[in-house]
Amino acid sequence: MLVLGIETSCDETGIALYDTDRGLLAHALHTQVALHADYGGVVPELASRDHIRRVLPLTRQVMAQAQATLAELDAVAYTAGPGLAGALLVGAGIGASLAHALCKPAIGVHHLEGHLLSPLLANPAPPFPFVALLVSGGHTQLMRVGGVGNYTLLGETVDDAAGEAFDKSAKLLGLGYPGGPAIAALAESGRAGRYTLPRPMLRSDNLDFSFSGLKTAVLTAVRNQTPDARGRADLAAELQAAIADVLVTKALAALEQTGLERLVVAGGVGANRLLREQLTASAKRRGYTVYYPPLEFCTDNGAMIAFAGALRLQKGLCETAPGFSVRPRWDLASLSTV
Ligand code: KG4
Ligand code: ZN
Repeated sequence: MLVLGIETSCDETGIALYDTDRGLLAHALHTQVALHADYGGVVPELASRDHIRRVLPLTRQVMAQAQATLAELDAVAYTAGPGLAGALLVGAGIGASLAHALCKPAIGVHHLEGHLLSPLLANPAPPFPFVALLVSGGHTQLMRVGGVGNYTLLGETVDDAAGEAFDKSAKLLGLGYPGGPAIAALAESGRAGRYTLPRPMLRSDNLDFSFSGLKTAVLTAVRNQTPDARGRADLAAELQAAIADVLVTKALAALEQTGLERLVVAGGVGANRLLREQLTASAKRRGYTVYYPPLEFCTDNGAMIAFAGALRLQKGLCETAPGFSVRPRWDLASLSTV
């Protein structure tokens, strides 16, 4: 079964073609980073307008690359939420219209389900069940994943997401957007430990997170004594270490609590090298295995949407009626069918 995937929930237009027999056939991405750079963050209206310009040319590009025709499609999957309402409406409007014109099902995919299933695009793919650490710009969650559509929330952030802590702290340090890669790059030349930042909720007896205090601690450090270039690098290194410490500790606690042995890491922060190194090493010591999506599918992309859509199509979990809706706020655990 051949599925076109359209991702437009935030600031990347991602298009991909996934075939259930042959795997990922083609994918293309346009990032809006340059468009929003001057504003220090995503401007929703600019994001929507840019998606309108990009979706069809990228779709043509992907179809040509895969030497496929629209008539061959079995379904069109699009990100239905969560995300920016206007941006979501672009992908949903085009995706649902295309599907309707082709008399094929339209599949509204949950963006986080896309992230969560993206490690299955790698070889070897993790078998179910596993614990998923979802770390994106807006979400930090630990889920128990029993299968497609079988998600139990184990813990989540009570305030900011880990990605937000990176992004907001980067702004305070005068770095560009998105902040995660900028902090990670600056941290390369810095030393963790010279500044002391908190590890929020590290010892709490649940699997929840809290990251808003970290950004405040960075603000206090910057205000107390304007750091020079060396100081900013040390602060970036300490921030990255603090976030990694908390994520690693809680992810391992989730494995212990559930009795599962496989951990899957998904979402943009999952691209962080220090986090990957520490998770892999700590998990290995305890006999656990960690799986990551291919690096290019950690951040937003169309492949994860085409893939999640294809898995839903195989399970018969998709809409065939014309029309569409988007859900800017949408709880992943509410998808559970068991
Ligand atoms: O999953 P994603 O691309 O978009 C959302 O669904 O939110 O995640 C974006 C987040 C941003 O907060 C960005 O700063 C962070 O992922 N990020 C990173 C890295 N690459 C992206 N954070 C830390 N280290 C990275 N290498
Ligand atoms: Zn995302």
